[in-house]
Amino acid sequence: MSNSSLLELGQPAVMKNVGRLPVVFTRGEGSRLWDADGKEYLDLLTGISVHNFGHSHPAITEALVRQAGKIIHVSNYFYLEEQVKLAAALTKLTGFQQVFFSNSGAEANEAALKLARKYGKVHLDGKYQIVTARDSFHGRTFGALSATGQPKYQASFQPVVRGFVYAPMNDLDAWKTAIGDQSCAILIELVQGEGGVVPADPEFIAGLVAFCRERRVLVMVDEVQTGFGRTGKYFAYEHFHFRPDVITVAKTLGGGIPCGALLVDERANLFEPGDHSTTIGGGAMAFAAGLAVLDLLQEPGLMAEVIRKGRHIQDTWEEWRKELPVIKGSRGIGMMLALDLNIPSKPVMLKCLERGLVVNAVTDTAIRILPALNIPPAELDEALAIMKQVLREFS
Ligand SMILES: Cc1ncc(COP(=O)(O)O)c(C=O)c1O
Repeated sequence: MSNSSLLELGQPAVMKNVGRLPVVFTRGEGSRLWDADGKEYLDLLTGISVHNFGHSHPAITEALVRQAGKIIHVSNYFYLEEQVKLAAALTKLTGFQQVFFSNSGAEANEAALKLARKYGKVHLDGKYQIVTARDSFHGRTFGALSATGQPKYQASFQPVVRGFVYAPMNDLDAWKTAIGDQSCAILIELVQGEGGVVPADPEFIAGLVAFCRERRVLVMVDEVQTGFGRTGKYFAYEHFHFRPDVITVAKTLGGGIPCGALLVDERANLFEPGDHSTTIGGGAMAFAAGLAVLDLLQEPGLMAEVIRKGRHIQDTWEEWRKELPVIKGSRGIGMMLALDLNIPSKPVMLKCLERGLVVNAVTDTAIRILPALNIPPAELDEALAIMKQVLREFS
C-alpha cells in the first residue's frame, strides 16, 4: 500500500493524541528508514533513542527471532531464563543491587515513585514529598505526569497526584528550599530530554547530591533517555561522579520491544512481595533483545566513539554558525544534542523530512538529534549536509 492510502486508512482510525507527521514507515536498517512509497530517509532520531544501535540490528533481530520460537511469557509467579540473565547482566554492569522490569519508562518511574513513598514511610517518619525539576519529563501515567514539571502536560488532567514539588534545573538554592520537611526523594534527569536537551551543571549536581545525603533524601535519576550509551557513558550519572540510589531506564533496553527497569541500591531496596508488579514487565522477547543490547553497548571503544561523534557534530554546527545566522548555538552531551535556532524549529524539521532526514523539533526553537551510536561517519556527514542545506534555505 502507498503512503497516502495507508494515511487514508490510518488517520481516521488512530487517535490524535500526538501530532503525528504524515509519513508511514515500513522498513528500517541501521540509520536508514523507508516509507511506504519507498522513499529513503536518514534517521537521526532513532525512535527517540530507542534504537541506539540502529534499526534491525542483526544481533537484536537474531535474538528476537530465536526467542519468538522459544518462550515469550509465563507470569510473574515464575522466573524466565532471559529475565534472570538480563537482571544479572544489568546489576553486574551497573553495580546496583536488584532490578524490577516494567513495560515502559513511565512505568519504571511509577515504580520509583512508589518506592520513594515507601522509603519515606520506612526510614523518614512518613515523609512523602518528591522534588523534581521544572521542564522535566518523566512519562504520561498519572504518577509520572505529576512528577513532570511542565504545566502544559498536566493542564487537562488536573488534579494530578499530590506530593510533588518542582525546582528549576541548575538552581541549587531553589532545590535546597524545595527539599523541605516532608521530602523523601528527588527524581531528576541529568540531561533533560523533552525539556529541550538541557544538561545539568556538574557543580549543581554535586551540591544537590550532598544536600540530599545530609537529609537522607533518596536520589533517583531518570536515565530513560540518557541511558545505554546515549551521552558517551553507559549511564549519564557516570559523568557526574556519584552513585544514585535508584535509576530508571527504558527505550533502548528492549531493543525496540517495550521494556523498562528500575535499578536500586541496597538502601532503597524496599519492595516486598505484593508491593508492586505488572503482568508482562517487558517479557522474554524484550529480555532476549536486552541481552544483545548489553553486549553491543560493551563493545570496546564504543563510548569513546560516541564522544568523538558528538564532538564532531557540535564542531560542525559551530562552523555553520559563522555563516548561518539562523543558528544560535548548540547543547548536549555525547550524542544527545540540540541545535538552538533563532527561528521556529518546526518548519526546519518539516523541510528536513521532505529532504529525507528525520530530526525532532524538541522546543519551539531547538532541533534535537539522537543518532544511532554506531552510525557510520559517512552517513552522519550525509545527514549533516542535508541539515545544513535546509538551514541555508532558512537563512
Ligand atoms: C526522561 C524520560 N523519562 C520517562 C519517559 C517515558 O518513557 P515511556 O515513553 O517509555 O513511558 C521518557 C520518554 O520520552 C523520558 O524521556
